[in-house]
Amino acid sequence: MARTMWDSSVGKKTVMAVSGLIMLAYLVAHMIGNLKIYFGPGEFNDYGHWLRRIGEPFMHHMWTLWLVRIVMAVAVVAHATSAYQLSRRDIKARPSKYVHTKPRASYATRTMRWGGIILGLFVVWHVLDLTTGTVHPGRFEHGHPYQNVVSDFSHWYSNVIYIVAMLALGLHIRHGFWSAAQTLGVGSRTRDRALKTIANVLALLLTAGFIAVPVGVMTGVVS
Ligand code: HEM
Repeated sequence: MARTMWDSSVGKKTVMAVSGLIMLAYLVAHMIGNLKIYFGPGEFNDYGHWLRRIGEPFMHHMWTLWLVRIVMAVAVVAHATSAYQLSRRDIKARPSKYVHTKPRASYATRTMRWGGIILGLFVVWHVLDLTTGTVHPGRFEHGHPYQNVVSDFSHWYSNVIYIVAMLALGLHIRHGFWSAAQTLGVGSRTRDRALKTIANVLALLLTAGFIAVPVGVMTGVVS
């Protein structure tokens, strides 16, 4: 049953929709948490420490955080694998074997593919930058996320990387949210307008909310 479902295109699209919505929920929480940077180092660093203590004393130190990490890793792998496989099917199914002019994938499809690749690379960069400090351009100190964010965005190329990635994120969510709603059967003639509006508002809020952090550092409001 699970096998048949996974082998079908509808099954893969369902996996994409569900994993995408799980990542979206994470992003909304992450964006709201990041905005606490405007309340100063004390509050932001406390928040970072609290993330490691969620669920205590029932949960051991870091257990909830690791649970979230595992769910996110599974979601990312499921999302990327089904995207890759659907894309291979799409290319194979094109009736262009004997013609030289290949029909191009639609604008939305191409933006989703490029956007997905950019976001995948961004997440790897971001974790090496602000979680492990491996590629951090300034002095990285474990347990001091506020200082790490400020020193990060004091380098012009960090701002470029993050802002470009957040614009890609907005476009990806705008189309992805809409596609997920269609796949999950929420769409209908009466609801499609509302769904498009929700997708646009979500994309705009997330992009603006995330970009507010580098902008805060660049303008000196956060220092
Ligand atoms: C301007 C935008 C962003 C800023 C300033 C930011 C900031 C941060 C910071 C400071 C941490 C480290 C938290 C800590 O160790 O206490 C972090 C972790 C993380 N962020 Fe972001 N983030 C941004 C955007 C994003 C986006 C768009 C994604 C996903 C697409 C993302 C995914 C993650 C992940 C997966 C972690 C690792 C969490 C863990 O430790 O398990 N972030 N972020």
